[in-house]
Order: sequence, then C-alpha cells, then structure tokens
Amino acid sequence: MVRTISLSDGKKIPAVGWGNGTQGIQKSGRKAIDLGVLALKAGVLHIDTAQLYGTEKETGEAIKEAGLKPEDVWVTTKISGSKVQNNLESIRENVKESIDLLGFIPNLILIHWPKVVKDGDVAKFWQHLEALVEDGTLKGCSLGFSNFRPQDIEAIMEVAKIKPVCNQLEYHPYVVTHLDPVIKVQEKYNIVTQAYGPLQPIVSHPTGGPIKPILTRIAEKMSKETGKKVDEAAVLYLWTIGKNVVAVTTSGNPENIKKMAATEDLPDLTKEEMEEIEQAGRKVHYRRYDHMNEGYPKVDLPEDI
Ligand SMILES: NC(=O)c1ccc[n+]([C@@H]2O[C@H](COP(=O)([O-])OP(=O)(O)OC[C@H]3O[C@@H](n4cnc5c(N)ncnc54)[C@H](OP(=O)(O)O)[C@@H]3O)[C@@H](O)[C@H]2O)c1
Repeated sequence: MVRTISLSDGKKIPAVGWGNGTQGIQKSGRKAIDLGVLALKAGVLHIDTAQLYGTEKETGEAIKEAGLKPEDVWVTTKISGSKVQNNLESIRENVKESIDLLGFIPNLILIHWPKVVKDGDVAKFWQHLEALVEDGTLKGCSLGFSNFRPQDIEAIMEVAKIKPVCNQLEYHPYVVTHLDPVIKVQEKYNIVTQAYGPLQPIVSHPTGGPIKPILTRIAEKMSKETGKKVDEAAVLYLWTIGKNVVAVTTSGNPENIKKMAATEDLPDLTKEEMEEIEQAGRKVHYRRYDHMNEGYPKVDLPEDI
C-alpha cells in the first residue's frame, strides 16, 4: 500500500516521490529515463520534475517504458523559466511546452520560486495560472508553489479562487525551527509542505549532527523488529511522512531506489521517536539550499554542530 497525504482540493498525493532534479542524476552518470523506470518499477509512483531540470520529456518516457499510464503516476512539474512573462499568453506557451514534453497534463504544477515572477507580482501570475485551469489547458491540475515565503503566500491568498495545495521547501529536522514562520502561514491556509532535501542531514551535513545517533538507534531497533535492513534514510523518510509532509527525494543508485520504495512496508515512527528527532534537530540550523534566505527571518541557532 502506498502512503498518501491529503491535499486541500481533495486529491491524495503519494507521500514519497522520486525527483529527477539534475544533481542526483548527474552524480549517478545514469539517464533520467532509466532511473525513472527503476523508481516506477520499484513502486515509487510519484515523480518530481521541473522545467529547470530538463527532464520533463524523460519523465513521460519513463512512465511509458515502465508500462504505466499517466493516470497511474503522480507527476509534479515546476515553472522555472525566468524568461516567462507575466501575461496569460506567455504563461500559456510556457505551460503548453511542459505538457508537450511530458505528453500529458501533470497532476500538480508549482511556481519554482518567487523570483520566477520578475516584477514580484505573484498574485497576477497566480490568476493567469487559474485561468489556464479554468479554460482546460491545465484541466484537473492542482496548483502550488515552491520556496515561497509568508509574504508571497499572503499575496496569493488575497486573490486566489483556486487555493494553492502545497509549498515545496527544503525540509528536514535541521530547518524546522527556521521554517516555523512559513509553516504557520501554511497551516492557516491548509497548505501541505512538500520536503525537498529530506535526507540532507545524512548526505551533506559534515557529521550528521545530533540527530544521527538517534536515527541509527531507531534504524537498528526497526531492523530487529521487522527483520528488514532499515537504514537512517528510511527513518528520515518516516519522520518526514510522520509530520504529514511529502518526502521528495532522489537517488541514482538502484539499491537506494529500492530502499526508498520499501519504506512503504515499514511501520510509522512512534510519537516519542518523532519528538526525539524533532527536538534534537530544532537545536541546530543547517541548510543545504539557500532558497529561503532573502526576505526571510534568520534563526539564532548554532550552525557548526
Ligand atoms: N523545489 C526546489 O527548489 C528543489 C530544490 C532541490 C531539490 N528539489 C527536488 O527534490 C529532489 C531531491 O532533492 P535532494 O537531492 O536534495 O534530496 P535528498 O533526499 O536530501 O538527497 C538525495 C541524496 O540522498 C542519497 N540517498 C538516497 N537514498 C539513500 C540511502 N538509503 N542512504 C544514503 N544516501 C541515500 C542519494 O544518493 P544516491 O544517488 O547515491 O542514492 C542522493 O544524492 C530533487 O531531485 C528535485 O526533484 C527541489
């Protein structure tokens, strides 16, 4: 059974997604299409792509090659092009290009970051996206954004007829304190968080920091209890999902892709385990991506542990 998270428009998004952002793909030296087929065949029926990654075509092809139909898979793409102008026709052309490359209308389209809209006029941009849903260009597609700060969200909520369903943010235990102001606004409007970079505490933090021994202990305990090889990454996925946050991760390694899919068969973390990881994470500020810096409050926490 695939875990899902409910969105405010009534749809359910698979809680774990495989992203084909170029970094993970380049590191592996494999092609987005081959890795996409691996992820889909392993059972990860959620692909996160973007115009910026240049992998929309491969996303559509991977679905075909895996013997699946678009309706079997959740696909998110993102409007990333800074060349897109803030008028209906330009946005329509931009969105149509994505649809042509994918070969179908995605389940969800995000504004990749607030600066995609050059003049900062995100509300107008949102209204143009709404018009594309209403005229059928984006029929059935949910709308959302990524890396949006409280002020960007409030600007959209002032005009939105179609409510944004999610905000995709770098999200893991070492940024939860920093994210408090934006999460508070999202809770007000029932906007789900999608985590990108959910594994950064174990893949890019220099030591793994204070949550590392906790993840190791829980992984060992769960391995014994389930008879399966559970690693720290699996515990971080379970922590993310336990927060009702969608985990958008990636891997170019077939073994790790299989482990990602196998998370579905693991039990949820207990309340105490969720809390222990969060409290240890909240004491540190560590972030891999710098998208939430400009125009967003800093946090007074140590960065070097
Ligand atoms: N909206 C945005 O602005 C934005 C920004 C960044 C990323 N994203 C999206 O989020 C996706 C994921 O981002 P991310 O790369 O930062 O995610 P992440 O989940 O933090 O890290 C992925 C890394 O974890 C490693 N990994 C996977 N399973 C593992 C395991 N079991 N044990 C140890 N290491 C493991 C992978 O390496 P191996 O390949 O060796 O397995 C990969 O390099 C991207 O592809 C993209 O779709 C969005």
